[in-house]
Amino acid sequence: MKISAVSKEISEWSGSVLIAGVLEGTTKSQLNLFKSLVKETYLLERFNYAKFEGKKNQKLSIDLIDKNVKKIVFVGLGTAENLLIQDLRIAASIGTRQVLSHGSKLGILLPWDAFDPSAASVAVGEAIRLTSFKDQRFKSEVKESNQINEVELIGLDENTINLALAEINPICSGVEFARQLVSAPPNFLTPSQLAKEAKKLANDYNLKLKILDKKECENRGMGAYLAVAKGSDLEPYFIHLSYTPGNAKIKNKVVLIGKGLTFDSGGYNLKVGASQIEKMKYDMGGSASVLGAARTISEIKPKNTEVHFIVAACENMINGSALHPGDVIKASNGKTIEVNNTDAEGRLTLADALVYACKLQPNAIVDLATLTGACVIALGDEMAGLWTDNDRLSEQITIAADKAGEGIWRMPMKDSYKSGLKSSIADLQNTGPRPGGSITAALFLKEFVQTNIPWAHIDIAGTCWTEKDRDITPKGATGYGVRTLVNWIKELDN
Ligand code: BES
Ligand code: MG
Ligand code: ZN
Repeated sequence: MKISAVSKEISEWSGSVLIAGVLEGTTKSQLNLFKSLVKETYLLERFNYAKFEGKKNQKLSIDLIDKNVKKIVFVGLGTAENLLIQDLRIAASIGTRQVLSHGSKLGILLPWDAFDPSAASVAVGEAIRLTSFKDQRFKSEVKESNQINEVELIGLDENTINLALAEINPICSGVEFARQLVSAPPNFLTPSQLAKEAKKLANDYNLKLKILDKKECENRGMGAYLAVAKGSDLEPYFIHLSYTPGNAKIKNKVVLIGKGLTFDSGGYNLKVGASQIEKMKYDMGGSASVLGAARTISEIKPKNTEVHFIVAACENMINGSALHPGDVIKASNGKTIEVNNTDAEGRLTLADALVYACKLQPNAIVDLATLTGACVIALGDEMAGLWTDNDRLSEQITIAADKAGEGIWRMPMKDSYKSGLKSSIADLQNTGPRPGGSITAALFLKEFVQTNIPWAHIDIAGTCWTEKDRDITPKGATGYGVRTLVNWIKELDN
């Protein structure tokens, strides 16, 4: 998809479909802009008839006959006072969905000047591309319907904006890669396949790669991670990718960790009833965000920041050697864990990943994980939960997510809840009581992080997948987190 800015006016533009944002309350004067295509009075009539007032989420399509433009889709933006860049994204997505199979060349007209036009146009370009993304890899026949192959953002300064738009490709490629990883079924995206994907990234984008096999993980004492992998016929792979800037004076070193359960059956605490075992291919959503970010980072090449990407990949399955509920295992920092629930496996894999990350002595660690159903209950599928003791890191990540239009909400790291993780036989047990289940999960992870290293945990159990088309995401894998992580690193790098 080619996305560019053009300084033309509507009367000079031609293409198959025009998407136009309309602010609430100022419709009359705005209609004048389209006079070369359609009479103002006719438009007004149609708006009145359809009760289209420019309110958020409203849309109205008008087909044109005998024009260079075949269709205009008007999309409401709400009032000018309340307008956010996210509203432009959403409007562009609503318009795009109307015309997904109609047009090869799309024009977009939005109030760019309400914001920094570079930021607004990048956001909208990303929204259009990510809205139209479709994963057809697992269909035997691929529908070659009329796809959008060209997008022009109308009424912008070509010289400055087209330079800014160059960012869209690396960012969307990272998000799309993450979505593909998540939507791939568990018989395809196995732990070894995930390791292969990392290897491909390393080769294609010049990243360093270290993969630890089971033996090497044993040597490092990763008893928590390996305990989860025991019940599967598939071998675990511990993936460590890294990006180092050419610049010798590195300002920051950060580690991104993603939960990488290519399937989570629950283990002997099998997922039954409404626990949606059939969806658990997305339990590697954290690793997808991290590898998606790796792809983008390796293309945008931050100058002053070294970035490590870590995934302890495995499956949570059942066989004769699987973890028993009640087993006591030992993590690589020496702590012993009573596994009172085999379905709380993500935190076991992350425990050893966090210990490994701390040994790199970074300035910050961020982990992303589809960790708890409780987080979905608390925040739904549009907000991820953020846990950290570090206010600065919390602010940085929140700003990065806001800028990406990805929902995030800081949750309490309530230390007294740690009593719920007391074990009578080991140092701690892996689950606490049901209430506050996402908080005890975060507190469990904290036990494996060196206290002097700023660390944040993001629970994406709700946000990594959507059951319906939503904001800039088609139904399915969202790629949540890639853009937040990239924004965060870009800001650190400045
Ligand atoms: N992968 C699940 C969490 C999950 C649940 C993600 C629903 C997405 C949707 C995780 O491994 C898990 O099973 N957690 C348990 C923890 C419990 C046993 C304390 C859960 O949330 O039920
Ligand atoms: Mg589980
Ligand atoms: Zn899980």
